[in-house]
Amino acid sequence: MYRTHTCGELRITDAGKQIILAGWVQKTRDLGGMTFVDLRDRYGITQLVFNMETNADQCRLARELGREYVIRALGVVAERSNKNPNMLTGDIEIHVDTLYILNPAETPPFTIDENSDGGDELRMKYRYLDMRRPPLQRNLMLRHRMAQSVRHYLDLQGFIEVETPVLIKSTPEGARDFVVPSRMNQGQFYALPQSPQMFKQLLMVSGYDRYMQIVKCFRDEDLRADRQPEFTQIDCEMAFVEQDDILNVFEGLAKHLFKEVLNVEFPDNFLKLPFEQAMAEYGSDKPDLRFGMKIQEIKIVPSSISSGFPLFNEAEYVGGIVASGCALYTRKQLDELTEFVKKPQIGAQGLVYVKYNSDGTFKSSVDKFFDANALQAWATAIGATPGDLLLILAGKRNKTLKALGELRLEMGRQLDLMKKNQYVPLWVVDFPLVEWDEETSRFYAMHHPFTAPKPEDVPMLDIVPGKVHANAYDLVINGIEIGGGSIRIHDSDLQAKMFDVLGFTPEQAQYRFGFLMNAFKYGAPPHGGIAFGFDRWVSLFAGLSSIRDVIAFPKNNQGRDVMQDSPSLIDEEQLKELGIIVNVKRE
Ligand code: AMO
Repeated sequence: MYRTHTCGELRITDAGKQIILAGWVQKTRDLGGMTFVDLRDRYGITQLVFNMETNADQCRLARELGREYVIRALGVVAERSNKNPNMLTGDIEIHVDTLYILNPAETPPFTIDENSDGGDELRMKYRYLDMRRPPLQRNLMLRHRMAQSVRHYLDLQGFIEVETPVLIKSTPEGARDFVVPSRMNQGQFYALPQSPQMFKQLLMVSGYDRYMQIVKCFRDEDLRADRQPEFTQIDCEMAFVEQDDILNVFEGLAKHLFKEVLNVEFPDNFLKLPFEQAMAEYGSDKPDLRFGMKIQEIKIVPSSISSGFPLFNEAEYVGGIVASGCALYTRKQLDELTEFVKKPQIGAQGLVYVKYNSDGTFKSSVDKFFDANALQAWATAIGATPGDLLLILAGKRNKTLKALGELRLEMGRQLDLMKKNQYVPLWVVDFPLVEWDEETSRFYAMHHPFTAPKPEDVPMLDIVPGKVHANAYDLVINGIEIGGGSIRIHDSDLQAKMFDVLGFTPEQAQYRFGFLMNAFKYGAPPHGGIAFGFDRWVSLFAGLSSIRDVIAFPKNNQGRDVMQDSPSLIDEEQLKELGIIVNVKRE
């Protein structure tokens, strides 16, 4: 037997017991005649003690131990004289009789502890060592617990888990596909699924009316803190349901997870916020509702000292936010905010500020154009009180709203309004069905091409597709899009019309989606579903801003696995078998 207990298990009540532990050496200390070894496994750390007087051989052996050696120790549990209240095993230590070195270890390239001195890239290269660290272990255990909890809840609701294929035909969901060449069908390619979307719809046609799967999805897109090229979804689909049925079941799932894992309860129904309102009030389709600071449109009031401010006069939209108590912001702080909104990814031309001083006077960046009466009128209209700072942007409506949304989040960060332990979930609903892309001059599905339009909007599909709303919804928590789904089209004629709106010819639609449209001819039930970004949900619960550290073996920002050094070249022979000629010049 390698061990009788784990390194996190023994307590004062075990004193006197003969035990065996096994694990990794966290650190050793020689103090005169005694050697102390901290032994670690994923359950905790236990102190081993070796005594030169009573057991010189073993003590000498213990002095040879290096960090991360794998050892096994037989001994007796004893009460510690010098207790450590910060450790669960801090009341005891093990007086070791026999020590076995199971495997020596080279000195690790960074410290394996709560905090590490290793940089990101180094920790990624030695991910198996990084994963010995307590934060990573906590994250992966949290992930496991959440997966168990999800399966348990959905099982009780009658969902069955069905695996869907990984080598498939391309399913367009807005990103690029990863492709896999076929040896047996040279010149032809599989795609890796961006999600099991069409398969879960086919399962509904097959009569499995409640499907779930915790499943890997693959998307070749630019990476961000909350995006990985391969990530995991909690993917679900239901038949014979309307939107509210789906929202109820999955609001239930969210409440269950929060309660079971974080002991957080939400007594009320989640807010349902229409997309248009989310954009108008928060400049985002994933608003962080841990704080207010709603965006408000500003109707420009005529002023006695000028015919107006050119930027405002020419703008399609002028809007602002009120930063409570920020009238004392310094020149430097305001300059920094101006730099922030001018960043290319935000793209505002400039920032107008109005300080509503505590004494009731105004100081603004547009004093040349607007008198105090005009500024007072804006302040009153958007509910500012003395001591507040108004931040105003102007320009094209959608772009300005998005910029105000970013500015709102920045002010939320500066004023520490986004508390880590506070969670505000909501459903964003009534998304547009399609959006126009200027560059390619065509409509794209806002969600995916299988999303159903709202029945009352169907007549507009031929005339003004941009105005059609979808039965689509996202679950948003603290500004993170945790999941999204929709009621699907289950009628092959309507599906064909949708492909037409998206610019597919009937032949293209048949080539890519023929099997789905055919399936719909054989009795497709009304259906809909949702998929949650499991990595995002785990990282939210772990209090992390990136999903990387809730994934055992993630990719870096260039989509590389730096531990395996992949992607990598393959043999000429393999390329030949696949019928592939690589046309890339290498240095
Ligand atoms: P969608 O594309 O909105 O919907 O994806 C669902 C959820 O998956 C997460 N997600 C990601 N997480 C990490 N890295 C990524 N690259 C990534 N991309 C998406 C997000 C997102 O909300 N088939 C539909 C669902 C449906 O209609 O049922 C779909 O995949 O949290």
